[in-house]
Amino acid sequence: MTIQNDPLLSVENLSVSFDGFKAVDDLSFQLEKGEIRVIIGPNGAGKTTVLDLICGRTKATSGSIQFEGRELTRLKEYDIVRAGVGRKFQTPSVYEDLTVFENLEISYPSGRSVFEALFFRRNKEIVHRIKEISEMIFLDKQLDRKAADLSHGQKQWLEIGMLLIQDPALLMLDEPVAGMTVSERVRTAELLQRIIQSRSVLVIEHDMGFVEKIAHRVTVLHQGRIISDGSMEHVKNDPKVVEVYLGH
Ligand SMILES: Nc1ncnc2c1ncn2[C@@H]1O[C@H](COP(=O)(O)OP(=O)(O)OP(=O)(O)O)[C@@H](O)[C@H]1O
Ligand SMILES: [Mg+2]
Repeated sequence: MTIQNDPLLSVENLSVSFDGFKAVDDLSFQLEKGEIRVIIGPNGAGKTTVLDLICGRTKATSGSIQFEGRELTRLKEYDIVRAGVGRKFQTPSVYEDLTVFENLEISYPSGRSVFEALFFRRNKEIVHRIKEISEMIFLDKQLDRKAADLSHGQKQWLEIGMLLIQDPALLMLDEPVAGMTVSERVRTAELLQRIIQSRSVLVIEHDMGFVEKIAHRVTVLHQGRIISDGSMEHVKNDPKVVEVYLGH
């Protein structure tokens, strides 16, 4: 018997143009299971666009995105979520008027609408899962608090929890520690270590201290192309990276 260790995600020659402007230009990279990959690069490099392409929000002009043997470029955004890709945007989007518990509850995958979910009878399995996730995101003592009363960092964690409860194999986070305090950043690094026990994470981040702490591998984007890729040690000593990004 041969044991195959295929990558979780395989991006091949991916490009997208907006009115002739190539925001992502012939991008190829692979993400292993259990890996934390960080994409860095200057503003406008195309980092967020890469996540938009993977989650189906933006359609590729050419190229392929293989995820667990499926071609994501052919799927709709909703089906990509169902295939196991969770994506967090740059700004937190939790339901401010609902409690932490309720925010997690309505994110539990069930095909129900937000309205229906609120009136759905809680079963043991859901409550157990919410407890488990809330411990993971440091909010197990805050389950009855309204999301509006949480700190910015806690809202970011809650949103990560709302994705985790859907059990994605790949979690993509766009600048998760922006606006967080130093201690919240430390805990977020801890959270990511817990997350990758059973999944892979693709993170965009500008905070180099944080990147150094979490990244297994770093991919540097500039003008839609990969200019460097490898360990943090490798990319931070790469003259091309220093010139366009780290030297600023
Ligand atoms: N839907 C779109 N339509 C037109 N242009 C777009 C679209 N999405 C992104 N762009 C352009 O593509 C380029 C890359 O943008 P992107 O948001 O991916 O950069 P980024 O690396 O995430 O930057 P930042 O670090 O500032 O978040 C920018 O010039 C942006 O204006
Ligand atoms: Mg961005």
